[in-house]
Amino acid sequence: MLDWYDVHRRVLPWRAAAGATADPYRVWLSEVMLQQTTVAAVTPRFLAWTARWPDFASLAAADDADVMAAWAGLGYYARARNLVAAAKAVVAEHGGVFPGTEAELRALPGLGAYTAAAVAAIAFGQRAVVVDANVERVVARLFAIATPLPAARPAIRAAADTITPDLRAGDFAQAMMDLGSGICTTRAPKCLLCPLRDACAGFAGGAPELLPVKAKK
Ligand code: ADE
Repeated sequence: MLDWYDVHRRVLPWRAAAGATADPYRVWLSEVMLQQTTVAAVTPRFLAWTARWPDFASLAAADDADVMAAWAGLGYYARARNLVAAAKAVVAEHGGVFPGTEAELRALPGLGAYTAAAVAAIAFGQRAVVVDANVERVVARLFAIATPLPAARPAIRAAADTITPDLRAGDFAQAMMDLGSGICTTRAPKCLLCPLRDACAGFAGGAPELLPVKAKK
């Protein structure tokens, strides 16, 4: 996956150049924006936001009404309020420097398990297991996990843990995201282009597109 990522990684404004360290502020902001919103919709908003508030200090001092206006259209406004609250906490409690462990990150407003893991791995190079909807799909197929969602989540997470490397866990997570959004797509996955094809139990089973199974409503 890491070799594949080095060649095929998407160039996205919150990502560092290959081999460089990503800015924790930008990683955190992008992960929060991307929680319910697509990369295509987030990208221009991310660029406008970071031009206006490039770091925790500027965001902590931002006017609430300006922040809400900048968030308009992205939905789930609690996310924007939590961004400002977290920036204030980083300035007041951490001297303006984002804390680098999953546990400290989780103590900040709005930072749930997913965001804390993503930031710890992508911005701080820690080994953390990062599972969003794209990664969930890749892992369910790779291991042919046929239990319906959401019941399959613990098994998917445990399987993701077994393949997460100690080094470059952030690149690994983003490689899995890129694979899920570009190749291991919900419908008509492009298995012939997939670096995991030979290892994929879903591909071997002949119908990877049927995984993961969604529980009937
Ligand atoms: N979706 C959520 N986080 C992402 C990231 N870092 N890169 C691409 N897609 C994502």
